[in-house]
Amino acid sequence: MSPPPTAALSLLFLLLISFSTTTSNAHNITRILAKYPQFSSFNHYLTATHLASQINRRQTITVLVLDNTAMSSLLSKHFSLYTLKNILSLHVLVDYFGSKKLHRISKGTTLSSTMFQATGAAPGTSGFVNITNLKGGKVGFGAEENEGKLDASFVKSVKEIPYNISVIQISHPLDSAEAEAPTAPPSELNLTEIMSKQGCKAFADLLKATDADETFNQNLDAGLTVFCPTDKVVKDFMPKYKNLTASKKKSLLLYHGIPVYMNMQVLKTNTGTMNTLATDGVNNFDFTVDKDDEVVMLDTTVVTAKITGIVKDEEPLIVYNINKVLLPKEIFKPVETASAPDSDEDADAPADSEPADDQTLDDDNGVQGLEGRTLVMLVLSLCIGMLLMGV
Ligand SMILES: *[C@@H]1O[C@H](CO)[C@@H](O)[C@H](O)[C@H]1NC(C)=O
Ligand SMILES: *[C@@H]1O[C@H](CO)[C@@H](O)[C@H](O)[C@H]1NC(C)=O
Ligand SMILES: *[C@@H]1O[C@H](CO)[C@@H](O)[C@H](O)[C@H]1NC(C)=O
Ligand SMILES: *[C@@H]1O[C@H](CO)[C@@H](O)[C@H](O)[C@H]1NC(C)=O
Ligand SMILES: *[C@@H]1O[C@H](CO)[C@@H](O)[C@H](O)[C@H]1NC(C)=O
Repeated sequence: MSPPPTAALSLLFLLLISFSTTTSNAHNITRILAKYPQFSSFNHYLTATHLASQINRRQTITVLVLDNTAMSSLLSKHFSLYTLKNILSLHVLVDYFGSKKLHRISKGTTLSSTMFQATGAAPGTSGFVNITNLKGGKVGFGAEENEGKLDASFVKSVKEIPYNISVIQISHPLDSAEAEAPTAPPSELNLTEIMSKQGCKAFADLLKATDADETFNQNLDAGLTVFCPTDKVVKDFMPKYKNLTASKKKSLLLYHGIPVYMNMQVLKTNTGTMNTLATDGVNNFDFTVDKDDEVVMLDTTVVTAKITGIVKDEEPLIVYNINKVLLPKEIFKPVETASAPDSDEDADAPADSEPADDQTLDDDNGVQGLEGRTLVMLVLSLCIGMLLMGV
């Protein structure tokens, strides 16, 4: 083979990452629905509510899909995303119903449990769906606690992969007072509260003081990645920070967030330019994600920070520790070449030496670090296996 072994190995590694993510989920509801523009709205909200990944993780599942017209009648009621998640999860049956099985229900009627029931958010049996064979070959669907009304009927089968996933179009949304009840955002996802308890209190306090926390919180639903400089780093940075105007302070803080959920694996496979919460038209406020073996670095051209640990990883939110404040080039002058005096940066980064970083990583993230290493071992052995099999 002509390429150097390390390059070949990293290529195989990358291939295997994508290989393992596609095979560990036997199906991908987003991809299935992407072929049908009439279901684009439903598909969009499966992603926005993070139901898509939950559907992909499950086996033996039936998705009752609504076309864009039916979805717009649902959306016209202006439910919050959390409520919409409950409503849509009532449309995901945790059993397999292909069109044949639907038309041949024993005794003509049955109840199926749904993902709404499975979340534990559904009171009583409100997370069950009644499926009934009706006259003329029709199949009716209704929420179990809906006074016996079957609001929706079977339209057509969209995709059947027996017995993993069946996607069935139904005519109308399933009405359910319980699923439509106002839902509070999950309380554990209070960003400033999470950060305050995990060694990011100084940064969280700055977010609160500038109202930047509102912008961060608004992005929580759809996915959010936060890079939090540790308390000591923020403290050392304060003299410079205090010198900034209010709007620059806010931009600097927003610069520490990305409006998508990116776990370590995703970050490592998506190196390159990254927009931030501070990005606004001509004001790029972007930085470059880089990696050196297992270390992920964020390069703003003014400063390069390292990710030293994970404070919280609970999709749709992930919070990382970093060892420097990210200084955007839009606010701070880029440093000259390596020979230029860089004492300020050193002051920002007392934990720049390798042992200190490892310490932080182990303290904050021993378990995940271990998982990472196990994954690498697994992937490497798979690599070797594939090489042996001649794949
Ligand atoms: C169904 O899922 C299983 C387990 O993930 C997988 O092995 C199988 O290939 C899937 N079946 C089809 C038809 O995709
Ligand atoms: C599912 O498919 C969508 C669209 O093709 C893609 O963006 C997403 O990464 C896939 N998800 C998984 C888990 O493979
Ligand atoms: C489903 O609803 C129909 C119509 O209200 C009712 O007759 C039937 O008993 C229900 N099925 C079950 C299993 O509860
Ligand atoms: C998060 O928690 C803090 C402290 O408990 C509280 O002051 C703040 O209002 C909460 N924010 C949200 C969005 O719930
Ligand atoms: C704050 O700004 C002033 C005026 O631009 C400057 O002289 C001073 O060095 C700055 N202080 C810090 C800590 O950057």
